[in-house]
Amino acid sequence: MGGLETPAQELGPAAMRSAMSRYATGVCIVTTVADDGTPAGLTITSFNSLSLEPPLILWSLGLNSSNLDVFRSSDRFAINILGVEMVEVARQFARSGGDKFAGVPVVTGRCDVPLIAGALVQLECLTEEQYPVGDHILFIGRVVGAAIGDGAPLIFCNSAFDALDRGGS
Ligand SMILES: Cc1cc2nc3c(=O)[nH]c(=O)nc-3n(C[C@H](O)[C@H](O)[C@H](O)COP(=O)(O)O)c2cc1C
Repeated sequence: MGGLETPAQELGPAAMRSAMSRYATGVCIVTTVADDGTPAGLTITSFNSLSLEPPLILWSLGLNSSNLDVFRSSDRFAINILGVEMVEVARQFARSGGDKFAGVPVVTGRCDVPLIAGALVQLECLTEEQYPVGDHILFIGRVVGAAIGDGAPLIFCNSAFDALDRGGS
């Protein structure tokens, strides 16, 4: 417990990944649609709130993602916050290639983006800014529509999907 094992100035990708794996997050699927109507999406944990007024959110997309062009050229996307029962959908959207949407119920949002049916929260966003930063593109979105449900969130921590443990303290 405790103690600095790696000086910050020497932090390489493996140590960076190891450090960040301790940080528990929720799990989302970010979705959009190509000009020809093809839906696109991937599982992310880089989502976070950025501003309340105006309502802005952020997430980042790896430069090696096969989804890079579709998200860069689209002016909109949706953040689908997953419930704990959606772990298999999270795994499906984390696999590169193939039809990620196969067997996944989807509804079309007001902004014409595919929304994952049954997600805890669906946020429809207009792309406000895109910044290349390091090995990712940082997307900032303005939330223009929201469907907000209740339920237990899916958690990702220590490189594994998990659930909140409300048993203690
Ligand atoms: C729990 C989890 C969180 C992830 N978070 C991100 C993320 O925030 N940004 C990202 O670009 N990829 C993230 N990925 C990887 C993508 O889901 C996906 O595997 C990667 O983009 C390759 O697929 P693609 O080429 O279809 O985009 C995450 C994967 C998992 C399993």
